[in-house]
Amino acid sequence: MPDSPGTTAPNAGSLMIPGGTVEIIAGGFTLRYDWGEDGKIKQNSGPGYPQWGDGWVFEPALFAVHFDGNTSTDLRVVNTHSEGQITKISLKDSAYTFYVDLVFQSISEYNIIETWVEIRHEEPKSVTIQSAASAAIQIENGDYYLTQFSGDWANEANMVSEPIRKGIKILDSKLAVRAHQFCAPWFILSDGPLSEDSGTVIAGSLAWSGSFRFSFELLPSGNISTICGINPFASSFQLEPGEQFKTPKMVLAGSNSGSGEVSRNLHRYVRQSVLRDGDKPRSILLNNWEATFFSFDESKLLSLFKGAQDIGIDLFLLDDGWFGNKYPRNDDTQGLGDWQTNTEKLPNGINYLTEIALDHSLRFGLWFEPEMVNPGSKLFEQHPDWVIQQPHRELELQRNQLTLDLSNPEVQEFAYTLLDDVLRAAPNISYIKWDCNRYLTQPGSQYLPQDRQTYLPIAYTNGLYSVMERLNIEHPAVEVMMCSGGGGRVDYGSLEFAHELWPSDMTDPVRRIYIQWGFSHFIPAIASASHVTSWGGRPLKFAFDVAMSGRLGLDLDIDKLSAEEREFCRRAIATYRNFREIVQFGDLYRIESPYDGPRSSVLYRKDTQAVAFVFSPDGAPSANLCFKGLEPEITYQVIETNLPDGDTSWGKFPGQQLMSSGLSLPKMQALTSSIFLLTPNN
Ligand code: DGJ
Repeated sequence: MPDSPGTTAPNAGSLMIPGGTVEIIAGGFTLRYDWGEDGKIKQNSGPGYPQWGDGWVFEPALFAVHFDGNTSTDLRVVNTHSEGQITKISLKDSAYTFYVDLVFQSISEYNIIETWVEIRHEEPKSVTIQSAASAAIQIENGDYYLTQFSGDWANEANMVSEPIRKGIKILDSKLAVRAHQFCAPWFILSDGPLSEDSGTVIAGSLAWSGSFRFSFELLPSGNISTICGINPFASSFQLEPGEQFKTPKMVLAGSNSGSGEVSRNLHRYVRQSVLRDGDKPRSILLNNWEATFFSFDESKLLSLFKGAQDIGIDLFLLDDGWFGNKYPRNDDTQGLGDWQTNTEKLPNGINYLTEIALDHSLRFGLWFEPEMVNPGSKLFEQHPDWVIQQPHRELELQRNQLTLDLSNPEVQEFAYTLLDDVLRAAPNISYIKWDCNRYLTQPGSQYLPQDRQTYLPIAYTNGLYSVMERLNIEHPAVEVMMCSGGGGRVDYGSLEFAHELWPSDMTDPVRRIYIQWGFSHFIPAIASASHVTSWGGRPLKFAFDVAMSGRLGLDLDIDKLSAEEREFCRRAIATYRNFREIVQFGDLYRIESPYDGPRSSVLYRKDTQAVAFVFSPDGAPSANLCFKGLEPEITYQVIETNLPDGDTSWGKFPGQQLMSSGLSLPKMQALTSSIFLLTPNN
């Protein structure tokens, strides 16, 4: 005989509410919940939060195995609560002391809903949570398109749209230590082919830096059931009595005017509520990675400082290769984990470098990869058990490295302390790049008990967040760039701990146009590090113009530039300063898609000023550029800027004309670009 379900005396939260309705509205869509006398919650004629074992045979939002082995859950509404922007619908199992709260925070000025789920129970023994989604959305008209952002290393965020067809479509990742590499943790649903300026659009993004899963199931009823959350694959865990599990936030943005409005709202939301210091302009930085890779020494860095100062850089970022002595980090085969300055390359240490940088009016930033270790390192010799691994399996390396087990508090302490030690020893460091160059393939922990191994993906991400949070609390003035072998941590979870992110190791500006276009759907320009490099051997102006449409930086060996090129850099950097705030704080209007034609263009508008970027990677015929987002009544002075011979005026035009008939652009040669500054002519 199984034990009988745990019972507790009913409290206010467990009295069933006899019927009700709750609506949470975000622009183009509404989450409407109804329940009747029986308390079973519905959303748009489908289940409100589908539970396994409740007659629902499609993808469930919740699959719990109760203390007695019962695999079914039967939730009923017991309470609702609204306070300010927060709405909570409390559910309880009809027979078990098992509670689920659906929580919604509406950010009405941006038509955004943050939603998450809180689960707890008072059953006599632990409950196994097999899956617990952050959001379940029922869309009544199943005639929708799904746009995903897929790719791979150095080829991130390619947009692919397709109609949702019968059956189930899953976008997911199983990488555990980072959200993605092959498929970004976001999607857009649209009631027709995705359009910038029209149509109903629902954009979703999970604020979680580990494995995620979004499923889109076109049901026989014609509804689309969308379930979003942590990937339940191989990730079940035990919830003890009295413990609470809170899912990560799912961010949902809606519009009836296409994806442009959704992106602008998401950008405002990210700057205001997600990013650290989203209201402060970002520095222009020089990173030495593509300039030197691992081959540098003190004199090379000092020479780069001089060049950086000469062209007007604000911040120097020293990348990988500055550490390791027994195992010097001269390539990616060894040294990771030994965070002591390499005395051969940098005999006077990091603090000395930061002081010289300051003498050159440069802030100083430093690269770390705190979660990782090479087998060729003192750290691995001392703590082989700290590595994520599985018994009887040969260790599988990626980029010659292994992942440290951040579910282990001792490892969390190590990761925090290594950062803290370096930052305390060199207090002028005001920026760090946090990298993560592999994903998990052997998810086993020597710290977690044998019967809790599938908890590792969630425990890892929680461990990571606790280190990042501590860093932010203890070193609030240190800015953070989130990086993961390029854009593997482009997610709203890790962005909460960061100022910006490195979207891709692909820095050829021709490819970057596409990558930046894709990321721009969810990530504001202020957070999107965009660097001028020599990749692809493209003209310097073209490379600058592409980088200036995001957060400008450089990965260039300045010592190798000609006097003329240096002068171009100096002027381009000064030019960027003129309109940096329009790009970093402005509203983005995507005008011409690189997917649709030979020319692509975007415009940022802040108050009455705007800056537009036009790119022609392969050459483009003469055609009018019809601007967007301008004030029809304002007459704008249009100036083309960042030209080698100085700015050129294109004249004065009413906003209405610029948007309807546009500006007549001549034929463009391959690898050319233009930047137009628009200011009111008053
Ligand atoms: C991957 C990053 O994306 C690069 O920018 C660079 O920091 C390397 N790692 C260093 O190993």
